[in-house]
Amino acid sequence: MIESSKNGKVIAVVSGKGGVGKTSLVACMASCFAAQGFRTLAVDCDYGLFNLDVPLGMSNYTLSDFGDTLEAEDKGSAIDEAAREHPQIPGLFFLSAPDVPGSKIKDEQMHAFLEAARERFSYILLDCPAGIGSGFKVSARYADVILINATPDTASARDASRVFFEIKKYFEHEPETRLVLNRASDLKHATRIADSFIDNIGAKLIGLIREDKMVSIAAEEGVPLVLAECRGAAMDMLKITLRLQGINVPL
Ligand SMILES: Nc1ncnc2c1ncn2[C@@H]1O[C@H](COP(=O)(O)OP(=O)(O)O)[C@@H](O)[C@H]1O
Ligand SMILES: [Mg+2]
Repeated sequence: MIESSKNGKVIAVVSGKGGVGKTSLVACMASCFAAQGFRTLAVDCDYGLFNLDVPLGMSNYTLSDFGDTLEAEDKGSAIDEAAREHPQIPGLFFLSAPDVPGSKIKDEQMHAFLEAARERFSYILLDCPAGIGSGFKVSARYADVILINATPDTASARDASRVFFEIKKYFEHEPETRLVLNRASDLKHATRIADSFIDNIGAKLIGLIREDKMVSIAAEEGVPLVLAECRGAAMDMLKITLRLQGINVPL
C-alpha cells in the first residue's frame, strides 16, 4: 500500500561541481523510497540541463514540467495533473524542469509548490543544478534535508565545502545537511576525504557510493538502477534512503 502523508519531507541533492552523480542519486533514491511504499515525487530542478528522466527510464514518455504549477493558483491540482507516474514503479511520480533560467523562478513560487507537494507525497526529491547560482538557491532553499554530493577528490570536496558555507550563510531555516561521496573506487581514500570534510566543516557523511559501471549502463538502457541490479551502487543508494528514515545502517 502506498503511504500518504500530510507532511512530506523535501530532500535536495546539490553539488559544487557538475557530473558528480546527483541525477543518478536522485533517480535511484526516488525509486527506492517508492519501492518501500512511500508516495514519492522526483523533481528535475536542473533548469535548461534537465536529464533526470534518463536514469528514471522515463525518456520515452510524455512528461510535463512544473512551470505551470509554479504559476497555478491551485498548485495541488496542478501537481496532480502534471506529475507522471512511473510505468514500472507504482507510487513514483516525476516532474520535469521548466526550460527557463533558475533566476526566473521566485522563492515564494517554489515555496508554495513544495508546500502543496508535501501534502501529496511522503518524499519529494529535488535534483538541483550544480554550483552556487540562483538555480541552486531557489531550488534548495526550502528543503528539509540537503545532500551535498561530491566525488572523493580534493577539488570536488573543496567545491562541496563552498556549497556548505553558502547554505549556512543564505538559508534562513538551517536545513539538515549531509555529505554523500559518489564514485568511490578506493574506499579507504574516500573515507579519508570524508574525515577531512567533517573536520573542516562538520557536515557528516550519510553515504559512500561505489564506482559501478551499472549506473551508466542502466541509464543507457532506460532501466531504473535498482531494477537493473540489487547490489553495488544501487545498494549504497538504497542504504542512504534507510538512513534518511533514521534507520541505523552501517557505512
Ligand atoms: N557510482 C557511480 N559509478 C559509476 N558511474 C557513475 C556513478 N554515479 C554516476 N555515474 C555516472 O557519472 C555521470 C554523471 O552522473 P550524473 O548523475 O549525471 O551527475 P550530475 O547530475 O551530478 O551531473 C553519468 O554518466 C553517470 O552514469
Ligand atoms: Mg544532473
